[in-house]
Amino acid sequence: MPGLTIAGTGRYLPGRAYTNHDLARVLDTNDEWIRQRTGIVQRHYCPVGQGAADLALPACQEALASAGLEPRDIDFILFNTMTPDHLFPGSGTLVGARLGCAGVPALDFRAQCAAMLYSFQVADALLSRDGIRRILIVGAEAHAALMPWLDREILEGTTQRKPSPEAWELASRHRGWGVVFGDGAGAVVVERSEEQGTGVLAVDLHSDGNDAAQLCIPAGFRVGSYLGGGDPDSTLIHMQGREVFKQAVLRLPRSVEAVCETAGVRVSDVDWFIAHQANQRINDAVCERLGIRPETMPSNIERYGNTSAATIPILLDEMRRDGRLQRGQLICLLAFGAGFHWGSVLVRI
Ligand code: ACO
Repeated sequence: MPGLTIAGTGRYLPGRAYTNHDLARVLDTNDEWIRQRTGIVQRHYCPVGQGAADLALPACQEALASAGLEPRDIDFILFNTMTPDHLFPGSGTLVGARLGCAGVPALDFRAQCAAMLYSFQVADALLSRDGIRRILIVGAEAHAALMPWLDREILEGTTQRKPSPEAWELASRHRGWGVVFGDGAGAVVVERSEEQGTGVLAVDLHSDGNDAAQLCIPAGFRVGSYLGGGDPDSTLIHMQGREVFKQAVLRLPRSVEAVCETAGVRVSDVDWFIAHQANQRINDAVCERLGIRPETMPSNIERYGNTSAATIPILLDEMRRDGRLQRGQLICLLAFGAGFHWGSVLVRI
């Protein structure tokens, strides 16, 4: 059976970074609370007028360049986002066209923060088909569009204006999630490999819609209330943060143990645990429960916040470029997110 190998990676973080102090201009929060509860210090936001496909394009171009490939070498695009440019079509077809891959099949995944794990499993299966040799896996998010504040000038401190009492109240009511998300894109080119023992060794994926209401944007196509029927709150994120936190800390260690058992390796054999960056405290608790050294679970949440489907490819790119990722290593990708969707994928790179 052919396996897969990572041939190239890229990332793109738009514009300037916005600090916790910047956010305190638009909602009732402070740097100390955000740092202590989440580990986040700053994040980037997608520019006005742009979306996930715009952020994805430079990340994909960088991934292709690092693999020494041209757009025509790509046989499939898997696009992961919970903030697509449009309700339809998906963002995969948009980035494919802009990249010069028009005609190449493109599929959007809707598994939010855990989407990259699904992409790796599907890529692994696709690469075993004749004719598919290289797949571009992209994670890109433009959460800025749904942030509960609107006025960038106030956020940036370039005006003396203050938010109206209504704007301040709305943004502050949603401060639990309004401070954690950031925007960016990461891309990974995976290639078929005939080398024995490389590629996806095991997958442990789960989805349970029973808890969907704990983390969702309720607006949608429900008949009679298209896009929420005018209720502004329904187009914003609803998150029971504490419950999500508890579930993540409970389910992720179990998943990592299960994936290692399936592959016949010990948890301590894994070189890197490349975890979704939702909250530093979640990842610290997962390390503790697994009894692994925190250094084996790298973090960049301080700089980027939670970029949902983009956290894992952004981190992969950073680690590949600074030399931490080396051929032959065993890596475990793990994530928990809305749906709930969660799990882990074990890859020999
Ligand atoms: N600034 C200041 N105070 C705040 C803020 C803020 N940004 N947000 C909440 N608070 C206050 C609350 O009002 C509350 O105050 P009170 O005690 O006076 O009532 C207090 O802080 C505690 O609020 P909690 O919501 O209980 O805070 P918690 O410690 O749970 O932290 C957080 C909130 C950071 C959201 C945490 O629950 C978390 O990270 N949960 C997991 C989120 C996650 O993983 N999401 C999944 C990924 S996203 C995806 O898949 C789409």
